[in-house]
Amino acid sequence: MLETRITKLFGIKYPILCGGMFWVGRAELIAAVANAGGLGFLTAATYPTIEELRQDVRKAKDLTDKPIGLNINLFASLRQQPIEEWVRIAVDEKIRVVETSGRSPEAIVAPLHAAGVKIMHKVPGVRYAQTAERLGVDAICVVGHEAGGHPGMDEVTSLVLVPAAADAVKLPLVAGGGFADGRGLMAALALGADAVLMGTRFMATKECRGQAAFKEWMVHANGAETVYCMKSIMNPSRLAKNSVVEKVVELERKGATLEEMLPLISNQGPAVVDTGNMEDGLVSMGQSVGLVHDVPTCQELIDRMVEEALSVQERLSGLVGTKAPA
Ligand SMILES: Cc1cc2nc3c(=O)[nH]c(=O)nc-3n(C[C@H](O)[C@H](O)[C@H](O)COP(=O)(O)O)c2cc1C
Repeated sequence: MLETRITKLFGIKYPILCGGMFWVGRAELIAAVANAGGLGFLTAATYPTIEELRQDVRKAKDLTDKPIGLNINLFASLRQQPIEEWVRIAVDEKIRVVETSGRSPEAIVAPLHAAGVKIMHKVPGVRYAQTAERLGVDAICVVGHEAGGHPGMDEVTSLVLVPAAADAVKLPLVAGGGFADGRGLMAALALGADAVLMGTRFMATKECRGQAAFKEWMVHANGAETVYCMKSIMNPSRLAKNSVVEKVVELERKGATLEEMLPLISNQGPAVVDTGNMEDGLVSMGQSVGLVHDVPTCQELIDRMVEEALSVQERLSGLVGTKAPA
């Protein structure tokens, strides 16, 4: 049932992944996704020290005996990132899959593979998917323009990006950006993907870090309450709509530089999530927030997605089998 190239490659029950999420992608959430049959990625950049990352990896492993993943974000960052140490943690702690993003993973493919760690590289466009395939990663995730986080410069939505990527690469393919329920899962499979990857939907779960008020905002938000911005400084992002993001957009319109925007954009994630006050800073958010209507456990969410997917399959096979009236 719902067995795909990704479930087989990653050793998981369902083709449902929780992408790396700065600040919120921690042990409780990742273990809950794993226990429910999916695969989640702890997010290395969240932790101020390597020791704190190691402790959270171990905590996740205490909470589940299923595979867990680690997100290694290779984006250019103001803070020097300890990529080699993150790789060492993945190897030492026997992480099943590393999700890379932001830049070419070339430098870390060999050390991860030597230790038997699978690599899924996440990209926002077909040409990057082809490059990653040439570099020898094990799976590709493409994220469309709807996605929370960094959906890339091309502004191509998942409906076009996923089948275009399926035509262009042979590796197992994961679809991200705009997926939140069983209908989306079946749509992604129909478009040629082997799994869905969700960020936004998993933020509104019981196990995810965050104040109730923050998750309630998500429940009441519609798909138009996100903003795609910061393309002018080569840092395209999709964020929850609030007065801070509106100021960022205003600055961009005036041709502001990265330095001029820094005071506004350096405050990402922690404040909004931890206070529940949506005006406290910036937080990544995908358009799929418009499909979030409750705050279930990860188990409830994944079970429901699988049930919905099977009923979609039933509905579609009924349609295909129906003869046109004489
Ligand atoms: C709050 C938040 C933080 C994120 N942080 C990261 C990150 O640190 N690294 C990364 O590769 N992707 C990050 N992402 C992107 C997700 O892993 C995923 O690609 C995206 O959320 C999928 O689109 P969706 O939001 O429509 O589900 C983040 C997304 C959100 C919503």
